[in-house]
Amino acid sequence: MKMGGAMNYKNKMMLLVISAVFGLGLAGQVAAGAADGGKPLMLADVSSANTFNLNLKKAKNPNAPPWEDGIHDTANEATFNLQPPLEAYKGLPKTSFGNHVDWVKALDQGLIKPRWDRLDSNEEPFVMDLDIVRPVKASVPDVVFPHRQHTEWLLCSNCHPAIFIPQKGANQINMSAILLGKKCGVCHGKVSFPVETKTCKKCHSKPKPADWKPPLSEATLKNPWK
Ligand code: HEC
Ligand code: HEC
Ligand code: HEC
Repeated sequence: MKMGGAMNYKNKMMLLVISAVFGLGLAGQVAAGAADGGKPLMLADVSSANTFNLNLKKAKNPNAPPWEDGIHDTANEATFNLQPPLEAYKGLPKTSFGNHVDWVKALDQGLIKPRWDRLDSNEEPFVMDLDIVRPVKASVPDVVFPHRQHTEWLLCSNCHPAIFIPQKGANQINMSAILLGKKCGVCHGKVSFPVETKTCKKCHSKPKPADWKPPLSEATLKNPWK
């Protein structure tokens, strides 16, 4: 199919920016610890069951041009009409992970204006500014889930009710699920910033209260021998 000619450059550019946000094949590496003589052991090496997980392998070049990214069809000549990501990302705020663009900042600063409705350019998103704090039992900072940064791009129905029941604390979330591509991992590591050492603090952003102590386990509390 040939479709390159029907679109002007500006349209293509917008499409690219959108597909960049929602289509980046980025990935964070998660080192499971140093095993054999200092060589970091990758989780993906532990079990072949996990090799599908984008979170576990880092794309060699997350911003390769469409004809080298392994996703677009090089037999289709229109692929070569597409603007390479690095050209489209010029002037956008940078990060050191994912595809190296801070998309939330880019949107906040008005540098990109994704069209909310494919057919109606006047349609505006329904933005909801509601932070959900998820206290974490472990000693890492608590998680803040911000609705604003999500509803600027996403519909409520992208998450509710299939991924999350819309009720504070009603969902069980943990890192294993996220790394296996569930819960927050449905998007993070695939189409939004990846889960890797540099990004822990983006989600774990609320410091523990000053008087916080690690909770005692059930076994300790119910220990009949005390
Ligand atoms: C990116 C995913 C995502 C999107 C999009 C999203 N939400 Fe949520 N929402 C969550 C998460 C996560 C929670 C917290 C659930 C928990 O703590 O178990 C939540 C919680 C809620 C709650 C419960 C609040 C409370 O205090 O109990 C309501 C209500 C809600 N969302 C409504 C909405 C509405 C309305 C929209 C669209 C404007 C929306 N959400 C979009 C992920 C999302
Ligand atoms: C996309 C958001 C996100 C990122 C990035 C993220 N986490 Fe989490 N993390 C969560 C959520 C959500 C929970 C569950 C909180 C709860 O108990 O409700 C969690 C829970 C945890 C827990 C508690 C144990 C567990 O598995 O539930 C630890 C420890 C943790 N994270 C460490 C990390 C570290 C280390 C990083 C960076 C490598 C990281 N997290 C990156 C969202 C994130
Ligand atoms: C339906 C897809 C989707 C799900 C599910 C999702 N996110 Fe996001 N998230 C996004 C997108 C898209 C962005 C904006 C682009 C980016 O920052 O990469 C974003 C941005 C964020 C930001 C904003 C960072 C900033 O710079 O302000 C945080 C924090 C975050 N997500 C945490 C979470 C946590 C925690 C969960 C799970 C409870 C979660 N997200 C689930 C898609 C999702």
